[in-house]
Amino acid sequence: MSKLKSQPIQKPRILLAASGSLAAIKFGVLADSLSDWAEVRVVATKSALHFINRQSLPPSIKFYVDEDEWSSWGKIGDDVLHIELRKWADVMVIASLSANTLAKKHLESIKDLGILVISPIPKKLVCGDYGNGAMPEPSVIESTLRLAMYNREFQVKSMPLDSL
Ligand SMILES: Cc1cc2nc3c(=O)[nH]c(=O)nc-3n(C[C@H](O)[C@H](O)[C@H](O)COP(=O)(O)O)c2cc1C
Repeated sequence: MSKLKSQPIQKPRILLAASGSLAAIKFGVLADSLSDWAEVRVVATKSALHFINRQSLPPSIKFYVDEDEWSSWGKIGDDVLHIELRKWADVMVIASLSANTLAKKHLESIKDLGILVISPIPKKLVCGDYGNGAMPEPSVIESTLRLAMYNREFQVKSMPLDSL
């Protein structure tokens, strides 16, 4: 009998994070579309929780908040959640990204880490101002991500590009 068994194809693993921008109301749509082709886990800041309806997320998605870091850790030697998530994920997507969270990232180190920034788009914002500050539609984020992951030759042979 052949020793070559077909291995189940592993889906890409996406850690999807939201911070407290109004655009986080679209988080459920993005999480839903990504989970069509990827394993998705979610992290949300305290502010993001004001905009996210957790009931609207697919039930299979694991959802983490800051407190989980501490409830899962008791002593030196225990697993540390953010490190375990780092090991688990192929890619992390932050959408929406508040100015507050962006300010914590040094832009040069972002470039060094090979992070892809999907620029905001100009439109009339909810506050009534017109400006270059809105999050692109979830479908744009999803297709940009799929293309970037495919091009970087993640070990993702199952990634569907046909509908891009
Ligand atoms: C209704 C509402 C809408 C907001 N929208 C935005 C936004 O679009 N972009 C932004 O950077 N901050 C926005 N903020 C402010 C952030 O929520 C606030 O700076 C918060 O401290 C961000 O925390 P975080 O980065 O930990 O999520 C909004 C606040 C409120 C109350």
